[in-house]
Amino acid sequence: MYVADDKRYDSMPYRRSGRSGLNLPAISLGLWHNFGGVDNFENGRAMLRRAFDLGITHFDLANNYGPPYGSAEETFGQIFKKDFVPYRDELIISTKAGWDMWPGPYGDFGSRKYMLASLDQSLKRMGLEYVDIFYHHRPDPETPMEESMGALDTAVRSGRALYAGISAYDAKQTAEAIKILRALGTPCLIHQPKYSMLVRDPEQGLFDVLEKEGVGSIVFSPLAQGLLSDRYLQGIPADSRAARDFYLKKKDIGEDKLAKIRELNKIAKERGQTLAEMAVAWVLRDPRVTSALVGTSKVSQVDDNVAALKNLKFSAEELRKIDGVLAGK
Ligand SMILES: NC(=O)c1ccc[n+]([C@@H]2O[C@H](COP(=O)([O-])OP(=O)(O)OC[C@H]3O[C@@H](n4cnc5c(N)ncnc54)[C@H](OP(=O)(O)O)[C@@H]3O)[C@@H](O)[C@H]2O)c1
Repeated sequence: MYVADDKRYDSMPYRRSGRSGLNLPAISLGLWHNFGGVDNFENGRAMLRRAFDLGITHFDLANNYGPPYGSAEETFGQIFKKDFVPYRDELIISTKAGWDMWPGPYGDFGSRKYMLASLDQSLKRMGLEYVDIFYHHRPDPETPMEESMGALDTAVRSGRALYAGISAYDAKQTAEAIKILRALGTPCLIHQPKYSMLVRDPEQGLFDVLEKEGVGSIVFSPLAQGLLSDRYLQGIPADSRAARDFYLKKKDIGEDKLAKIRELNKIAKERGQTLAEMAVAWVLRDPRVTSALVGTSKVSQVDDNVAALKNLKFSAEELRKIDGVLAGK
């Protein structure tokens, strides 16, 4: 039987999501990869246990994580039943709907029909009565935003979710979504944007909107799917995400990118960190970032990413050096 580590709350910092009542761990774990039906169940289970033992109280899912679609939620449900039932009130579990999930006109995008049916399916797969956060996974250009936000509001009012979130909305869409949700009486808790040293789009307005409106952010792929680590410095390892050549493409790991990664790796070493640790610390340097949402394929990566917390401070000189490398100077 799994008994969580007594010391699990000793070192993880918890950061408030905007002006809400909810604190999230500085590092959260996502189940997009490595928890599907095709993956090793015990490895996934070991990563979740290790994460929780280190104070990671937040696990992030979506309806279509796998492969196959839905299977990460099923895997999580099985692990939850075996290990985490006694800890339900210590956990923040999120899921999402917004990408393609089932065939036909009601299994994708942002209709009320799709979002609420999907949430019911997610709860069933995970064996949960409610999720803590339900997200609209991406904006739908054809559905009125009032309808998608209305579905989030219903999810919360019906007790299927405690909080509402949005993902992949740009700054303007985010401002609008926040306004609609506020008028409905279900404030937007959090935004989930992609953000890392290699992808800095949220700095162009999104973070400003979130700060002004008191909405948190949990940034996904802070390691740029593993590129921001020492994993690819000597080629493409057979057990890596890039080797699967699907979400992270081999062609995207060109010499110019590797040259930057080598330089960043040097800076990380000077800071006494691995590059993965520095990548996590770097996104957390911005107080508008509530949590760094990492993925892992091994327990050792959970440890490494959490070790980032030992050095979260950057000098102005270090930040300048990093910006210089990223700008190719
Ligand atoms: N809202 C959205 O649209 C959206 C989109 C994408 C992701 N997400 C969420 O964000 C989560 C994280 O995304 P992500 O998996 O792309 O994040 P990431 O942390 O940037 O990348 C994770 C990958 O990096 C490698 N890695 C992790 N820690 C490492 C370490 N310490 N040293 C060396 N390599 C390391 C592993 O790759 P290997 O497998 O190669 O070992 C791991 O699978 C997802 O699980 C999901 O919950 C949300």
